[in-house]
Amino acid sequence: MNRLVVVSNRVTIPSAGAKAGGLAVALNELMERQGGLWFGWSGRASDDAASTSKPAIVDHGSVQYATVDLTHEEYRRYYTDFSNGTLWPLMHSLTEQMHFDRRSLAAYRAVNERLSDILLPLLRPDDAIWIHDYHLLAMPAALRARGVTAPIGFFLHTPFPSPDILSSVPDAAVIIRDLLSADLIGFQTANDAENFAASAHRIAGATRLPGGSLRIAGRDIRVGAFPVEIDPQEFARTAETASHNSDTQRLRRSLDGQSLILGVDRMDPTKGLRHRLAGYRRLLETRPALRRAMTFVQIAAESRQEVDNYQYLREDLDRMSGSINSTFGEADWLPLRLTARGGSRDTIAGYMREARIGLVTPLRDGMNLVAKEYVAAQNPDDPGVLILSKFAGAARQLGAALLVNPVDADEIADALDNALRMSRPERQDRWMALWETIKDTSALGWGRSFVNALADSGESQGGRVQR
Ligand code: G6P
Repeated sequence: MNRLVVVSNRVTIPSAGAKAGGLAVALNELMERQGGLWFGWSGRASDDAASTSKPAIVDHGSVQYATVDLTHEEYRRYYTDFSNGTLWPLMHSLTEQMHFDRRSLAAYRAVNERLSDILLPLLRPDDAIWIHDYHLLAMPAALRARGVTAPIGFFLHTPFPSPDILSSVPDAAVIIRDLLSADLIGFQTANDAENFAASAHRIAGATRLPGGSLRIAGRDIRVGAFPVEIDPQEFARTAETASHNSDTQRLRRSLDGQSLILGVDRMDPTKGLRHRLAGYRRLLETRPALRRAMTFVQIAAESRQEVDNYQYLREDLDRMSGSINSTFGEADWLPLRLTARGGSRDTIAGYMREARIGLVTPLRDGMNLVAKEYVAAQNPDDPGVLILSKFAGAARQLGAALLVNPVDADEIADALDNALRMSRPERQDRWMALWETIKDTSALGWGRSFVNALADSGESQGGRVQR
C-alpha cells in the first residue's frame, strides 16, 4: 500500500483533549489506519526565516504532521487576497464579489511553488499524494515540475463554476492546466465535475473522453464526483448525549416552549445570510400570529475578517438583525439572536437536536455538512425539518428536505411557515427519507473511495502504485 501524503492549506494536529472538526477527523482516521504524512500551513504568519522555510514535524501515532509558517506578505497575498478574495467567490460564481490583482496571483503561484519545494525532501518513492482545495490549485504542476512521478489526486471542497464564469478571471487557462497535472481530480457533485471538464476542454484544450476522463499532452486524467460525508451514527450519538448537557438545557429554558429555528454557518458571503435574514423578516411581517411562538438563533462564526467583503457582511448583519429586533421585538421577546461566536461541536449538536427547523440556505455551497449534521442530530420520534438551499451540493442527496431558492425571501418565509405547521407524521416521513440516504455513509468511506480511485488512476498511468 502507498504511503498517503495529504496536503492542505489548514492542517489540524490532534493535540491531547482537542476534538478536531469533520474533515480532519475523517482524514485522520484514514491516515491513522494506513500511516501517512499531512503537510501544509501552520496557521501562523511570521517573518522568521527558519519557521517559514523548515517544516515543524510532529508525530502522532503513525501519522506525521509537517507544517510551515507563511510570511506576512504571503499571508496577505496568497491566503487573504487571492485564495479568499479571488478564488473563493469565483468558485461560488459570485463574480461581483471577486477582486483580482495580478500581483496576488503571482504570490499565490509562488506559495504553491514554495510549499512544493519544502514538501519535496519529505516525499518517498511509494507515496500517493492527495492535495485539497482551492488554495493549492497550482500544486500538482509545481510537484511535477520538480520531478515527482507519484500518483497525485486533487479534491476541491467548493463548487466549480461554469466555463463562462471561470473565464472572468484572467489566466483561468493557466490555473486549469496546472490542475491537469494531477491523475485524479475529484469534486463534490457531478455538476461540478461536468463544469470542470467543460472548462478544461474549452479553456485549456483538453479532450473529453467517454467515461468522464480528460486527455491532455498524451496523459489521461480521471474526473469524478466524491461527495463528502460525515459520520451520521456518531453525530447522532453526540447530539443525543448533548441534549442533556447544561448548554442545551440553558437554551431550552431560555426558549420557554417556543419553536427554535437554527442556522449554523461561518460568517461568509456565500452562506446567504443577508437573504436568510430578509426571509425571516418577511415571515415576521406576513405572519404576525407566529411572532411570539418562535425564536431564530443564527450562529455565524466570525471568519476571514481581513477580507473586505467579510467585514461588510458583518456590518450588514449587525444592522439587519438590530432592525428586525427593534421592529418586531418586545420587552419580553426577541425574534432573533445573532452571534458571531462559534460553539463547540457538542454544543452545536445539542442545539441542532433541539431545533424544530434547521435553516441552511447558502447562495452556493460545495456540499454543506451542517445540513447532514442537522439530519443526524434529530430525535427520530419528533424530528425537526431541514430547509435547504437547492444550490448546496447536499441538496443533490437530501431531496426530502424543503428545498428553497436562497435569494427568494418569500420562498424562505413560506418554507418556514410550512415547517412550523408541519404535522409530526410528515416530519417523520421526511426525516426518515433523509436519514436513509445518509445513515450508511461515513467520512472514512468517502476518504477511502477517493484514495482507491487514486490508486486505480495511478495504475492506469503506469505509475508506481503499491496496494
Ligand atoms: C471552507 C474551505 C476550507 C477552509 C474552511 C475554513 O470549508 O473549503 O478549505 O479551511 O472553509 O476557512 P479558513 O479560511 O478559515 O481556512
